[in-house]
Amino acid sequence: ALVDKDGHRHFMAKEIHEQPEVIAHTLSRYLDPASETMRLPEGAFDFARLDRLTVSACGTAYYAGLISKYWFETWAGLPVEIDIASELRYRDVPYTEGGGALFVSQSGETADTLAALREARARGQKIAAVVNVPESSIAREADVIFPMAAGPEIGVASTKAFTCQLAALACIAVAAGRARGRLDAEAERALVRALLETPRLVAEALAGAGEIEAIAREIAEARDVLYVGRGVNFPLALEGALKLKEISYIHAEGYAAGELKHGPIALIDKDVPVIVVAPRDALYEKTISNMHEVMARGGKALLISDREGIAEAGDGLWRAIETPTVHPLLAPVVYAAPIQLLAYYTATAKGTDVDQPRNLAKSVTVE
Ligand code: G6P
Repeated sequence: ALVDKDGHRHFMAKEIHEQPEVIAHTLSRYLDPASETMRLPEGAFDFARLDRLTVSACGTAYYAGLISKYWFETWAGLPVEIDIASELRYRDVPYTEGGGALFVSQSGETADTLAALREARARGQKIAAVVNVPESSIAREADVIFPMAAGPEIGVASTKAFTCQLAALACIAVAAGRARGRLDAEAERALVRALLETPRLVAEALAGAGEIEAIAREIAEARDVLYVGRGVNFPLALEGALKLKEISYIHAEGYAAGELKHGPIALIDKDVPVIVVAPRDALYEKTISNMHEVMARGGKALLISDREGIAEAGDGLWRAIETPTVHPLLAPVVYAAPIQLLAYYTATAKGTDVDQPRNLAKSVTVE
């Protein structure tokens, strides 16, 4: 066979464990380790002149795009308009002449993403695509392709494509920051070094699979699960909830931690696990205080953080998953690993069809 499970029970497990290698491959398409600089493909956007970037995608690729918005803003000072493709394609987007539009897609065949791309082109935008399948429709119709070297992804629930999309998008945002003069050469070098560490950190995070499996057996008993995070980890909370519902059929919602008090806190009781994605970044204390509000209402908090982050959170956690310390803005690349493993093992505990979940397709080529 062209692809096999390589000793794993499911393609999804194989693809989760391939991440250190394929993230490194993807990074090698963009960064030069010797000079510690980024290089973008020929004909990429003229970031210095761009006044706005429109980003669009569906599903997991959309969450990768949402994370990139934080990167483009922080590193490049570039305003980003982002929406899911099925909305963007029908909106009256006030595109400006000479603008840029970036589409993110594993398959390159998602009908809504392709239609949003065509609409943006018709409205005079230059089109770029972060895409995994180079011979796909989206790759063919884009002016420039930003490659992601995830290799074939078979499991319907996207895993390695997500982290490779993140790796590619981070590189593009750093290059944009250099072009726009927001990052100097030293800042670029520091980010290149931080990115080059991510494959090793993902491998370390994956080594915790055994403990995550034990926690997942308890999550499998839940009817509803909440995921919360702030900043770059807010879209990762959305992705965590998506992954869990896709393959375990447990109802899950992702929320910005600061928004809990505006609704979802009403759902909290002793049966609702709340998964808190909180690396020790500038927002750590805010997120931990939201977690304490959940705990004060009898909620079961599962904290995902590094060793110090777990120690500082104090007593009363239901469970914790220790994750390696990583550059704060790159946390989603590494924290994706426990998020994916949690969904995977919850689904295997329930005995669902992990690689072929009911009602879902790998690539949605109809509207
Ligand atoms: C389907 C898949 C998802 C994927 C989404 C977008 O819903 O099940 O895993 O994220 O399509 O697919 P794309 O190929 O455009 O990234």
